[in-house]
Amino acid sequence: MALELLKEGHRKALQAVGDLELALRLLRGGQAAQAVAAVKATLVFLEGEQRVHFRQEEEGLFLYLAKVTGEGPLLAMVGEHESYWKAVASLSGLSQEPGDGAELEHLLEHIVSMLKGHIEKEDTAYFPLAEEHLSPRHLKELDEEMGIIAHLG
Ligand SMILES: [Fe+2]
Ligand SMILES: [Fe+2]
Repeated sequence: MALELLKEGHRKALQAVGDLELALRLLRGGQAAQAVAAVKATLVFLEGEQRVHFRQEEEGLFLYLAKVTGEGPLLAMVGEHESYWKAVASLSGLSQEPGDGAELEHLLEHIVSMLKGHIEKEDTAYFPLAEEHLSPRHLKELDEEMGIIAHLG
């Protein structure tokens, strides 16, 4: 259940990635205003729901996984979350003042590739590891903790 929720979060995040790719195509096609509108619409998800997902990983799943992998790999994943927030803050700023679009294009490319890579690692390495190593009791605890985080926002 806990992992299903996180996987569902990834499906939604990949939809947001699709929206950013659309914004990129618009931008490259000379439709800057439409691209900026698409970015602004996607920022609601990127800044909001994604925050809950990252907290559920950092304050939930990763703490259990650290017992299996050691802290190092998970600190790297948390570092990727932090890079994401910096990039999204820049994206928010550029959506207000896009300039000639070159910086926005570069940033969109960066966020798309960063998110795809991050999700791929979790889906193919960390979630399977959790499915293999976490006991039913720990999975239940994680489920409850994720519920509390979702509730608190
Ligand atoms: Fe993550
Ligand atoms: Fe994730």
